[in-house]
This record gives sequence, structure tokens and C-alpha cells, in this order.
Amino acid sequence: MILNPLRDPRDRRLPRVPEPCALVVFGITGDLARKKLLPAVYDLANRGLLPTNFALLGFARRDWGDTEFAELARDAARAHARTQWREEVWERLAESVRFVPGSFDDDNAFDELRQVLDELEGTHGIGGNAAFYLSIPPEMFPPVLKQMQRTGMAESTPDRWRRVVVEKPFGYDLPSARALNELVDSVFGPDDVFRIDHYLGKETVQNLMALRFANTLFEPIWNGHHVDSVQITVAEDVGISGRAAFYEKTGAARDVLQNHLLQLLALTAMEEPVELSAEEIRTEKLKVLRAISLPENLATFAVRGQYEQGWLAGERVPGYRQEEGVAPDSRTETFVAVRFGVETRRWAGVPFYLRTGKRLPRRVSEIALVFKRAPHLPFAPTDTEELGNNQLVVRVQPDEGVTLKFGSKVPGSVMEVRDVSMDFLYGEKFTEASPEAYERLLLDVLLGDATLFPRNAEVEASWAAIDPLEEFWADTRPYPYRAGEWGPRAADRMLAAEGRKWRRP
Ligand code: BG6
Repeated sequence: MILNPLRDPRDRRLPRVPEPCALVVFGITGDLARKKLLPAVYDLANRGLLPTNFALLGFARRDWGDTEFAELARDAARAHARTQWREEVWERLAESVRFVPGSFDDDNAFDELRQVLDELEGTHGIGGNAAFYLSIPPEMFPPVLKQMQRTGMAESTPDRWRRVVVEKPFGYDLPSARALNELVDSVFGPDDVFRIDHYLGKETVQNLMALRFANTLFEPIWNGHHVDSVQITVAEDVGISGRAAFYEKTGAARDVLQNHLLQLLALTAMEEPVELSAEEIRTEKLKVLRAISLPENLATFAVRGQYEQGWLAGERVPGYRQEEGVAPDSRTETFVAVRFGVETRRWAGVPFYLRTGKRLPRRVSEIALVFKRAPHLPFAPTDTEELGNNQLVVRVQPDEGVTLKFGSKVPGSVMEVRDVSMDFLYGEKFTEASPEAYERLLLDVLLGDATLFPRNAEVEASWAAIDPLEEFWADTRPYPYRAGEWGPRAADRMLAAEGRKWRRP
């Protein structure tokens, strides 16, 4: 066998530790920083995956010093860390925690930030490397990026890297996403931009590639010859969790469908990449996103919903319009279900039904391949009344794992075939717990590995699929559904129109 000289010869099983560096977080007082980023930094430190020379910098409009910020960071990390709390790990980290107060239009504050970074190079040996995490509303991107450009902080040189991490939403539609991409690309080099879609950091989502490309069982049937339809669900039981200001102008399609759901679709539908590199995987995903089609009859196949007051887990919960900060006549959707097509030889004719919603009966994300019925059944019709379509379900969360559903004979003297399932559960098979998505992604940013980050062309292709939907919905009202139900009836009618049903995960 001749080995491909282009392949990376590094042994990927060795834990990789980034070079000395600093992580600068803008928007350090926000929910994301407190609940996800700071705990992820601690968890990485606890697992020995941060470099010895590492510094954490916070930037916000607060009258704090380093100590106050370090205290806030410690409390947040302690409250939300995944791994066991060890005070000595935090104390070591705390030695290199810095805070720079200031607003985004304050030149002095950014000059100071630059100075602090320079100082850390001398005192903490961070080697000039830094990742800037923009955990801030998108309106704030332009001033912050401009400040970084002005101060020269964004510049990578042969001796040091500078990277930027951009949180979603990446724009509001295709034109704004293009403008944002242009802006970011005018300040940072193309290899230095990391767009976070935290679904790609989930262990179960990465396992899709192992499932498909490391096995022989599934790939031969992973196509329109055998697959009847695909259902991808991201369901949440929570409401908007106090994020009315953000959610009112975003809605479920922009918040989850445009990014998480379409990325899951892309990974499910893509061809095998030449190798598992950032370039090759992103190229294959992009081809799928470009091949997405919408049905002509959007009134039936693109359904929006909005939750009304109802019951969840024995508790009465308010309707969306009664949530604090939501307009009483709001038309923002909290549920969306759309039938997409993927116009490739592998998938032509196979519907991809995607849905997401808030205040649904339970929190569950999954990808289900529903297989075609057998072309002929040598049984009496009554024998197979309880037999559904075979299904392969990738359970993204919770109960992470994979389920195979198929028919089996019910024990007894008559022939009766009923659905049974075979389960693989991460919790049972592996002793090590899965890292949090943000832990994995933050580490990858510091390592400079962009495999799990969508490229800007992917973001734009996703908007190109969503914009016509938004345009269609602009003059419509979302269908109401009661909190605690699986979305509006119209979503069921959508599948019924093609003789199908949603799974009840
Ligand atoms: C975020 C959305 O991107 O994903 C939230 O903005 C949503 O509205 C969240 O709740 C869901 O993520 P997860 O990991 O809890 O499924």
C-alpha cells in the first residue's frame, strides 16, 4: 500500500495541548460566558489540556479589577463545571486572570487591552498568541473588530497567531451574513476565523462520521434506494429563558434551523470526505447545503408555530406572548417544521423533515433515518399490523446513543411481528464521560483546528435556504400550539400530506 503523502502523520490519539496563549473574552458578564465558556476553561485546565503558559482576559463595561473578575469567573466555573472541582486547579488558573474595563467605543480601553497582552507576553510567556471570543450581540461586532484592527491586535505574524471566535447568529439573512463575513475577513485572515456552532462540538454529532465512515453496515443503505425519509428534531421543553429581546427578533428558524439543524442535515447527507480534515469535511458539507431544495407548496411544507399557555411536567407555563419582554401581538415563531430536499444522486426524492421548538414535551435532539417498507411481506396482513418502518436513530441528546428499530416475532404459537429496538448507549459502553461541546470547541480554537467550525460559504448557503422561507412567512401568523404539545397540528398535517408521521421521540 502506498501511503498518501498529503495525510497528516501526527498520531491523533495523543492528547493535544495548545501552544502558550491567551483567551480574551468579550461579553464576559453574559449567560454564555458564565454558563459555558468559563466552566469550559476550568474543565480544560482540570484535564491538563491547557498550556502551562495560559492567560484568561475579560473585557466588559464594569468597574472591576482583576480580583473581582477572578471571583466572578471562579463562581461561574464552580457552579457549572462538568468535572470535579479542585481548588488548586483554579488557583493556578487565577494567577493569570486579568480584567480590562471599558466599552466597545473606548479607544483607551482597547489600547490598554493591547498593553495587557504585551505585558503578559513578558510576565506569563504567552508567546504573543491570543484568541478573541466575541460573546456579544452581533451589532457589537463592527466596533470591536474595528478596534482590534486599529490596535493591530488582530494581526497574525509568522511568530504569533491571533484568532477570532464568532458566536451565532451569523447575520440575519444572506445579505447581512455576507456583510458580516466580509467585515470579519477584512480584519482576520481566513484561517484565523472560527464560527461556533456548538452542535458540532457534541460527541454524538461527531460520532455520525464514525458511524457512517468507519463501518460497513450502514453506508450501503444510507441513500434514497433504502431510506424513505429523514427526520431531524431539536426539541426543547424550556421557553425562551428570559431572552425575549434576542428571541423576538430572531425566532426558531434563525435561532436553530439555519445553523444547528442544517449542520445536522449536512453531516447526515454528505459524501465521505477524502480525509477527516477541516478542508475536506467542510467541502463535503458545503456541497449538501448548496444542494438543498424547498418544496413549491410552502403553505403545507413550511410550518411555523408559537406556544400558548399550557402544562409541562405538572406545571402551568405562560404562553409566548405572555413572557416578559414579548409583544402581546408578537408573530415570532417558537416552533418551525420544514420539508427540505437534497438534490443529489444519493438523496433525490427523499424528504428531510426538520423541526425545532420551545416548550415541547421534552428536551430531545435526534436524527432518524426511516427506511422503506419491504417491497413484499410473505405474511398475512394481520401478522404485521404492529410493524412500522425500520429506523436508525442517532440520539444526539439526552441518553446519547444509537437505536436500531426493526420488526421481530412476538413469542407464541402465531406469527405476529412487532417493532423492537436495539440500543447503544454511551453511558453504558464507555467509562469516560463526554466533554461539553464548548470544551471541545474552545480547545480546537486554541489548537487552530477548524474541522468543527462552519466555513463562511456554509453559513451563506444556509441562509440562502432560509431566506425564501422567511420571505414566505413575513405576511403570515404562526399557528398556535399549547405548551407541552409537539407543535401545531399543521406540522402533523405536513407529514400526513405525504402519508407519513412524526416520530414521538
Ligand atoms: C442555542 C439557541 O444556539 O441552542 C438556544 O440560541 C437553544 O435558543 C440552544 O436553546 C440549544 O442548545 P442545546 O445544546 O441545549 O441543545
